Amino acid sequence: MDQFKIQGGCKLQGTIAIGGAKNAALPAMTMALLTAEPITLTNVPNVRDIVTMGRLLEHMGAEVQQAESNPHSFTIQARDNRHAEAPYDLVKTMRASILTLGPLVARSGYARVSLPGGCAIGARPVDLHIRALEQMGVAISLDHGYMEARAGKLRGAEIIFDKITVTGTENIMAAATLADGETVLMNAAREPEVTDCADLLNRMGARIQGAGTPTIRIQGVASLHGAKHHVIPDRIETGTFLVAAAITSGNLLLTGCDPAHLTAVINQLASCGVDVREEAAGQLRARGNGQLRPASFTTEEYPGFPTDMQAQFMALATQAEGTSNVAEAIFENRFLHASEMARMGADISISGNEAVIRGRTPLVGARVIASDLRASASLVLAALAASNTTWIDRVYHIDRGYERIEEKLCAVGARIERVADGKES
Ligand code: UD1
Repeated sequence: MDQFKIQGGCKLQGTIAIGGAKNAALPAMTMALLTAEPITLTNVPNVRDIVTMGRLLEHMGAEVQQAESNPHSFTIQARDNRHAEAPYDLVKTMRASILTLGPLVARSGYARVSLPGGCAIGARPVDLHIRALEQMGVAISLDHGYMEARAGKLRGAEIIFDKITVTGTENIMAAATLADGETVLMNAAREPEVTDCADLLNRMGARIQGAGTPTIRIQGVASLHGAKHHVIPDRIETGTFLVAAAITSGNLLLTGCDPAHLTAVINQLASCGVDVREEAAGQLRARGNGQLRPASFTTEEYPGFPTDMQAQFMALATQAEGTSNVAEAIFENRFLHASEMARMGADISISGNEAVIRGRTPLVGARVIASDLRASASLVLAALAASNTTWIDRVYHIDRGYERIEEKLCAVGARIERVADGKES
């Protein structure tokens, strides 16, 4: 298992190119299961979850080809869904595997997908996916930890999600494209990744309206065809590097991003005293001046403040003058990074889903453990602001969702080494 060795105290300066959104590319890949024709995706990030999804689709009998000339382009062709099973070993490492369920059962009438089980950031059930598919005529049984879904032709339904779910919305929207009649999704997720997924499906011949609003209408069609699709930029990678500029009193230009997807994050940075501006279309510049004000927010569904940026802002809050209050309203148990930051000198108290961060405390390098994807990004940020050397263990978490983060940060002045476990201490 690789570790990062990070020497803190460098001001980051320069330009970073933002990659495609992992959370848009993953559903886009599974949409290929809806048609026998090829789907070509560009701007796919080279991250571990994409490799895992590629393996899962191959396990199901699809051909997954990375373009020789462009490592960010994949063509996926699922001629038949011969082996419609998502095994536990893959699902447990990547919950987004659940996104194969809707497309498989809609096109082929059968799917066997492992239940995800618990994970580091809470229980994360899939009941909303199951209930919605049942409303569309799918029979789902549980067998040895697997969901077995069987259906003839799906039928359109009016589905009201009790809770806003991102992959739930994508899964059911996908299934509804091949159902008989109209499906209406209410209380749907409005995340840009949902809109991107609808854009791809419409290119494949689906008839979806309203993606990006709480009500999505899908008119079922008989079949879908091949398409080409460019994945949207990663708003969480963008947000993470904006915080990197702020926490190191640096000056970073981020290119190839979509500022419109980051309004809540940019507003929060502005209230912390960070200068963030759109320099040109698709370009954001962030400048930190070493004078940070506290950050207080509650995570919300889009367009609110994203839970996937909560940990990174907690690192930032340790460097603000005053007390920050952070409430996590989407996931339980998503403060695992706090105890690791405390080992570096942060003053953080947690009570239920609320955290109080008292700043400014100097951070000092320590040995810390990454517990999940965004938590590991927050520890990299804390290490950049810390004195001395920080060792971050289990960086495979960060590789799930950030493409070569250490190379991108080193190119703008960070000192990060990837060390294979046991090589150095
Ligand atoms: C997606 C993102 C993840 C992000 C999250 C919230 C992907 C691949 N992942 O995850 O990075 O942190 O949105 O923005 O896009 N819930 C239920 N029952 C269900 C489904 C969800 O109770 O059937 C609950 C969850 O436990 C959670 C909340 O709903 O409390 C939101 O979860 P959801 O939006 O489904 O998260 P994911 O789609 O898994």
